[in-house]
Amino acid sequence: MKILRRATITGNGKYLPPEVMTNKDIEKIVDTSDEWIRSRTGIEKRRIAADDMTTSQMGYLAAKEALEDADLAPEDLDLIIVATVTPDMIFPATSCIIQEKLGAKNAAAFDLEAGCSGFVYGVSVAGQFISSGMYDNVLVIGVETLSRITDWEDRDTAVLFGDGAGAAVMQSTEKGGFLAYDLGADGAGQDALHVPAGGTIKPASEETVKDKLHFIRMEGNTVYKFAVKRMGKASLEVIKKAGLKREDIDLLIPHQANTRIIDAAARRLKLSSDKVYVNLPEYGNTSSASVPIALAEAKEKGLIKKGDIVVLVAFGAGLTWASAVIEWNEERG
Ligand code: UT7
Repeated sequence: MKILRRATITGNGKYLPPEVMTNKDIEKIVDTSDEWIRSRTGIEKRRIAADDMTTSQMGYLAAKEALEDADLAPEDLDLIIVATVTPDMIFPATSCIIQEKLGAKNAAAFDLEAGCSGFVYGVSVAGQFISSGMYDNVLVIGVETLSRITDWEDRDTAVLFGDGAGAAVMQSTEKGGFLAYDLGADGAGQDALHVPAGGTIKPASEETVKDKLHFIRMEGNTVYKFAVKRMGKASLEVIKKAGLKREDIDLLIPHQANTRIIDAAARRLKLSSDKVYVNLPEYGNTSSASVPIALAEAKEKGLIKKGDIVVLVAFGAGLTWASAVIEWNEERG
């Protein structure tokens, strides 16, 4: 792949709502146990947004932090991309609501929906705008309020998800930066993870509400098998595209869905656990927010240094997958 002008990340931010829900709290709602959740998923707790918190507000707070980290004013932004499956409303785009909150009056804005792969898809889209020379300063946000579309009586899904936001500012660079991206989809798996109603196939009605069709439905095993195969494959694919080998990877930032899925990817890449960032026990699965939250946290903890090869990889509803490899070169990092 010929890249005309490289894009890189120059600022990161995150927002996690302060309200914590533990596995013990979930035991009181559905027939499950702390032991089952820990051993089958690796999750110990998750954050749940308060009733007056919104997707746009969490995205705004993460974005503000990322802009401060990049030392960039909101007016300097050319584009805002928001990856989410839990927008404030069906339309307008949540990115427009965040644009207004930030005062980013010179920025174009749109939402991108690729399930849990949304942020990594977003980074690759931002990369194309920067590489083509069309834009200089792009903000990519991954944000979810999954608690609002979770059926708290369905133990198959209630144990998994959490709320939060992560953001990254992307700009051009002379050296390093994003070296390659790999995106994919398999629409044959569309029913494995979906919200059946509220769109145009089944508009909201008394019946859809009664039948709980506005909540997440998931065939856990199907998604699990897909993820185990895809996370490793997509990481290897992007490394190859970048002309690198798996031994070159300094840090893997995988979508945080299940420690067994992450471990399988790490085994495939022959990576030791210190090269794989995991915060799933703390936050659960925050869908498109999981990779940017993990990236911001890894950076905060000093786990990423200049010159490091960092691989981002995710899978999700669609079914989709996405990976990206970046040679970390942040000037202010
Ligand atoms: O971002 C993408 C979002 N989705 C995912 O990442 C999901 C991927 N899938 C998974 O992570 C796993 O498939 C799950 C964690 C969802 C389920 O784990 P599993 O090992 O595939 O469990 P299972 O569905 O095969 O169920 C095993 C047993 C069953 O009992 P029996 O039939 O063996 O007696 C289930 O009824 O565990 C039971 N079970 C539960 N028990 C307690 C299923 N869910 C629960 C639960 N609490 N929440």
